[in-house]
Amino acid sequence: MKTVLITGCSSGFGLETARYFLARGWQVIATMRTPREDVLPPAEGLRVLALDVTDADSIRRAVAAAGPIDVLVNNAGIGLLGALEGIPMAQVREIFEANTFGTMAMTQAVLPQFRERRAGVVINVTSSVTLKALPLLAVYTASKAAVNAFTEVLALELAPFGIRARLVLPGRSPTTRFGENARSRMQGSIPEAYAELAGQVFAGWAQSTEEVTRAQDVAEAVWRAATEADGPMRLAAGADALALM
Ligand SMILES: NC(=O)c1ccc[n+]([C@@H]2O[C@H](COP(=O)([O-])OP(=O)(O)OC[C@H]3O[C@@H](n4cnc5c(N)ncnc54)[C@H](OP(=O)(O)O)[C@@H]3O)[C@@H](O)[C@H]2O)c1
Repeated sequence: MKTVLITGCSSGFGLETARYFLARGWQVIATMRTPREDVLPPAEGLRVLALDVTDADSIRRAVAAAGPIDVLVNNAGIGLLGALEGIPMAQVREIFEANTFGTMAMTQAVLPQFRERRAGVVINVTSSVTLKALPLLAVYTASKAAVNAFTEVLALELAPFGIRARLVLPGRSPTTRFGENARSRMQGSIPEAYAELAGQVFAGWAQSTEEVTRAQDVAEAVWRAATEADGPMRLAAGADALALM
């Protein structure tokens, strides 16, 4: 039986992906900053472990407790909307710590076991914003575009060891906790000079009739990335992301 370790399973895409793999008979290590047993139905194959991807000790403890895994899904991430001028560098670093360096650190932590077994898959969840530039998302987009580039290089570096690295690019998904979580970081992120631009962006979203991405779309794409040995390097998840791709 195969084992997947997923980061950021307390809500949204990570939670749905954990459910999806459990329903298909996988052993799932659902990791969360604050472990909660009640977000997923009890299942024989489920283990919930504490993991903060920005904390080296937490990573070491979680990977040791997990034991051998076949697939790592770097899903944990945080958002930030704002004009660059309104975002303190400490916040820029916070975004990169979680989205970019957290993904790199988790990957580093599992590679020795993947290399020894000459098998394993690393799946990094980035975003369709890396396919089409959108205003007020420079920092977030940069943090995810870096992961795209990182993963594509890594795939070449790891192929000789039988290890795969893949990307899943979800589109906009207003139903996860992502927007709400990002709002706590938006204090002052839109200075007065950018208010008109921000108004246009928000109005555009409010009036948008474009399709959005469902958590299920992301779970399906992650499943494909995990199970299709000859699948594509980049998988779009959601109708809007597919259209952009
Ligand atoms: N929703 C969208 O529109 C969208 C679109 C494209 C891509 N994405 C990406 O998809 C991924 C999942 O997002 P989502 O929409 O499912 O949002 P979400 O509901 O906010 O879930 C994000 C998860 O990441 C966790 N997390 C945040 N910082 C962490 C850290 N330092 N260590 C470990 N876990 C951490 C959160 O845990 P806590 O509960 O502890 O905060 C939460 O479980 C993210 O990488 C996001 O950038 C989202």
